[in-house]
Amino acid sequence: MAVHKHLRTQVAIVGAGPAGLILSHLLHLAGIDSIIIETKARNHLEERIRAGVLEQGTVDLLNQAGVGERMQREGLVHGGIELRFNGRSHRIDLRELTGGRSVCVYPQHEIVKDLISARLQAGGQILFEATQVQIHDLTTNSPRVTFQHADELHQMDCDFIGGCDGFHGICRPSIPSAELSTFEKLYPFGWLGILAEAVPASQELIYANHHSGFALLSMRSPSITRAYLQCKPDEDIAAWPDNRIWEELQHRLNTSTGFHLNQGPILQKGVTAMRSFVCEPMQYGRLFLAGDAAHIVPPTGAKGLNLAAADVRILASAIIRWYRNNASDLSERYSEICLRRVWRVQHFSWWMTSLLHRFDSADGFDHRRQLAELEQVVNSKAAATTLAENYTGLPFDTSGEL
Ligand code: APR
Ligand code: PHB
Repeated sequence: MAVHKHLRTQVAIVGAGPAGLILSHLLHLAGIDSIIIETKARNHLEERIRAGVLEQGTVDLLNQAGVGERMQREGLVHGGIELRFNGRSHRIDLRELTGGRSVCVYPQHEIVKDLISARLQAGGQILFEATQVQIHDLTTNSPRVTFQHADELHQMDCDFIGGCDGFHGICRPSIPSAELSTFEKLYPFGWLGILAEAVPASQELIYANHHSGFALLSMRSPSITRAYLQCKPDEDIAAWPDNRIWEELQHRLNTSTGFHLNQGPILQKGVTAMRSFVCEPMQYGRLFLAGDAAHIVPPTGAKGLNLAAADVRILASAIIRWYRNNASDLSERYSEICLRRVWRVQHFSWWMTSLLHRFDSADGFDHRRQLAELEQVVNSKAAATTLAENYTGLPFDTSGEL
């Protein structure tokens, strides 16, 4: 039988996604020790294609934390997006509408690489490929995490647990169900996403509402196109050979004056279901949930990663305050503070999704109403400003000590 190994850290972090890694790094900058436990291998995390649009506030956070060097060099700063419908394209000038705010296109897995390397260089511990991860004694002052790592059964004692293990992790289900309320909306469609070796056909992202369904043209770099098509939630990817994908993208992104997509080898394709999900509260005893472990947004507003970063920014402040001032006021308000932003972003992501997708249940009235709303967004400065403010990211809550 494997040996029992005891570890001790101030903050045990479950999950080495963006939430767990940023939290660990922010704590380290304040002299607080943490260990991350992760079920997947390092190369899996560093290659997993996820989101790619960073709000100004997320960019600022990564820069201030000293992990933004490569992002500043390689990230693509976008001052606008295009909304395309009825064969016409309309630019939303994010920068002008928000007094200078923009977004940065820099892939999530590159952020993960930068953060893993920063943590390891600073002597931080990330235990990859752990199994049987469990959390215990959450309502005591000394919670524990147990797991199997490198053939040894480990027990890690700590003061706090950061539950950063994503939607399918074990942290949220470890909270007694009577203590949690969950709110969920499943959408009757998914996104078929591709990554292709092709120069993006547009300098900026294009969101298209088309009678055949939503399409999005995005990018990962000046030579890699990322694109999505609205599809059935259980769409069979085998029914989508590369040429069918390109044809459908061309069809949905076309304009009356003509639009030409650059095609190239498709490197990856997959289908993602879409959901909105929130659990309340985001804390139970000494367990604090952050990122996808606590909430999911549909990807239309590109908010998942940004919301995870906003959570851990608050969580790090709360934990730092607890150690420095022996004050639990902020940690007690963690959930309440996060949920205000979470619900604002939930609304925005739902709104973008509803505005741009075709719903099977929609009739002619619904479709015309949707087009009228899009006209309003592109023609009214007030409506465009609302979109731009939310898209580039609402300012962080600066009330209190945050
Ligand atoms: N024990 C340890 N780690 C776990 C466990 C477990 N039982 N279960 C899951 N994990 C790990 C996953 O392997 C993953 O690396 O937790 C990590 C969670 O990371 P993410 O899913 O990336 O979630 P988060 O850090 O909250 O980042 C949110 O990711 O899904 C996107 O759109 C989302 O961009 C947003 C971002
Ligand atoms: C992406 O590039 O993956 C992406 C961009 C914008 C979105 C969603 C996803 O709204």
